[in-house]
Formats: sequence, structure tokens, C-alpha cells
Amino acid sequence: MPTTPPSPPVYWDYLSLPGLLAQQEGLDGNPGPDELHFIIVHQAFELWFKLVLSQLRLARNHLAAAHLPEEQVPFVVHHLGRVNVILRHCVDQFAVMETLPPQDFLAFRDKLTPASGFQSYQLREIEALLGLKNEDRVSLGGVKPEAHIQSVGASSQFDAFARLQATQQEVTLRDALNAWLARTPVQGSSVGDPGDESVVNGFLAEYLQQVQAHGDATLAGLVTALGDAERARMEPRIRTTVEETRRFLLADDPGVRRARAGLLFIESYRELPLLAWPRLLIDTIVELEEQMLLFRNRHARMVERVIGRRIGTGGSSGVEYLDKTTAYRTFPELWTIRSALLPRTMLPALRHREKYGVS
Ligand code: HEM
Repeated sequence: MPTTPPSPPVYWDYLSLPGLLAQQEGLDGNPGPDELHFIIVHQAFELWFKLVLSQLRLARNHLAAAHLPEEQVPFVVHHLGRVNVILRHCVDQFAVMETLPPQDFLAFRDKLTPASGFQSYQLREIEALLGLKNEDRVSLGGVKPEAHIQSVGASSQFDAFARLQATQQEVTLRDALNAWLARTPVQGSSVGDPGDESVVNGFLAEYLQQVQAHGDATLAGLVTALGDAERARMEPRIRTTVEETRRFLLADDPGVRRARAGLLFIESYRELPLLAWPRLLIDTIVELEEQMLLFRNRHARMVERVIGRRIGTGGSSGVEYLDKTTAYRTFPELWTIRSALLPRTMLPALRHREKYGVS
């Protein structure tokens, strides 16, 4: 029996375009041109969020492995690098939204209440996958975003809350990163090597001595430049910075301390060939957090331009609420370490160079 060859794919079928392009009907099936604009811009963002989620999961899966072979670190950097480009693109995309003049938005805004980006369960999933904890979120009128999604969800067929809860059970990028950092060889010593703890503690003690010496030199330089009168003002500040660095690096929890030592080592000796990819990974995650903050800030500025300081359709204080979310830091250690870094000339001498690809 001759078989009929499969029909060749057609562009619009492959992309499910007829279905996709029939999904902009709004609440009454007949959005005006401005509302169509509003719907499409939001949908475009949500499509990008879908891709961000899939890339984050791929990166997290690699990073969360009990052992991440050196040659797989580039995959993590690749997926997170793609997330960064998408987020940058999303930040730019707010300019499209801004072409909606305030009065034209007011013409249809009220019928949306209480629908709001506050219910973007995909953004909440992105935040959860990164490692933002529910208790660290800003509340909206005393209600945390998760509880809000649960309560408004009662009037929808789709169980966004269940989906969010499932994502919250997953390993976060933050936890995977910290576990990986804790396995970084420090001065050639790896977790499980005999005496690893004392090598790590010795490195931290040596480093902290240099932090102290750097603080003293900074103070001496300031006094020379600005006069002795400045000493009383500057000295407590510098002492506080040194003390904060000490507390950060000498964390009580041994796992946290090992991870911070690993991070400090990568950031300090970043030119070593075998640290090239690890440092690129850290840089990529710093950029990711930066892009998330730029996203939040750009959204808030766009909102201020379109609705001013009035309350949001989701019931928040609007721009005031959004500005508070720009304080979120999911990877605080990656930022704190920046205040602890020393000039290269003051770093403790590197031991076991051969283990980092230097002969
Ligand atoms: C004219 C356009 C827009 C206005 C006036 C606006 C306004 C607001 C306001 C006031 C909030 C705070 C919650 C509330 O009370 O409703 C909010 C939250 C949010 N909006 Fe928008 N928005 C607009 C467009 C967009 C677009 C295009 C996106 C892209 C997805 C977006 C995503 C979000 C997200 C994710 C949140 C939650 C932020 C958080 O809680 O961290 N918004 N929006």
C-alpha cells in the first residue's frame, strides 16, 4: 500500500498563528485600538517570560547537579546570558507601552480592575526560581503577592496559585549557586580534602588582615589629602566597613562560610585560567539581577508617566509600591562581596597555582 507523504509544514500552522492571533479579544471581544495595543504589549512580555522560565530551569538543572564538570559551566552561562538579553529587550519594550497617552488609557482602564500585572504568575515564578522568598516581598496593602494570586484566582478557571506553589517547591538558582560556590577549590584545597577547613580559614584570616591593612592605608590617605580634622569622621566609617567584611566572611554556618570563601576566591583571582568560566558565571548572574532591577525601575517610570501616582488596578499604592520592589536582592552575597574586594597587589599569595591552570 503506497503511503501518503506527510504534508509539508506551513509557517502559520507550525507557529499556531491563527490560534495565537485570535487571543486578543479582551473582556468584551471588541477592544479598541489602544486596548489592542495594551493587550498585545502585555502578551509579548508574557511570551518572553515563558522563555525566561525555560532558560532559567535549564541553567538551574546544570548548576544544581552534585558535580558540575568544568566543561558544563559554559552551558549555564549560555542559558543565563540568553535570559539577560531577553530581559534587556523587555526593559526596552516598555517604550512601546509608553506610546499610550494617559487619557487614552483612562478610557478603558476601569474595566480591568482588579486585573493587574501584580497577578503575573509567570513573573512570580521567575522570582521564585531565582530564589526570592515570599517573606522578603513587599506586601500590597498587607497582602503578599502569593496570597493575592490565591484570592483573585477564585474567579478564574486557571489555577495560577497551584502552578506558583509547584514552582516554589523547586530548587532555586540561588541555592544551587551557593552549593556550587561552596565546592570551589580555595588555595588549591577542595571540600573533602584533608585539612580543607583549616586551609579555608587560614585564607580568610590572611585576607582579613589585608582588609584591615587596606582600611588603615585608606584612612591614612584620606587624612593626608583632607587634613587631620577628617580623621574623626572617616575612621568609624572605615572601621565599620572592615568589621562588616569580617562578619560577612566569617559566617557561623560552615556551609555559608565555605561558599563565601569560594566566591571571594573566584572574584579575587579572576584571571586564573581555570576560574575564567566560574567568574563569567558570577558576572552573568550579577547582570541578571541588575536587569531584573532595571526592569522593575523601568516599569515604575513607565507607570508614573502613564497613570502618575494614582493607585493601581491591583489595589496597590502604584508607583510607591513598585519603587519599593527595586530594593529586592536575590543574590545579596554577590553584591556584598564587592565591598570586600582588595587591590590585586594586596591579595594573599596564591598557592597551588598549577591547580588553576597556571604552570
Ligand atoms: C499602562 C501600562 C501599565 C500600567 C499603568 C501598570 C501599572 C502597574 C501597577 C500600578 C502595578 C502595581 C500593582 C497594582 O496595584 O496594580 C503594576 C504591577 C505590575 N505590572 Fe504593570 N503596568 C502597566 C504595564 C505593564 C506591562 C506592559 C507589564 C509587562 C508584563 C507589566 C507588568 C507588571 C508586573 C509584573 C507587576 C508586578 C510587579 C511586582 O509586584 O513586583 N505592567 N503595574
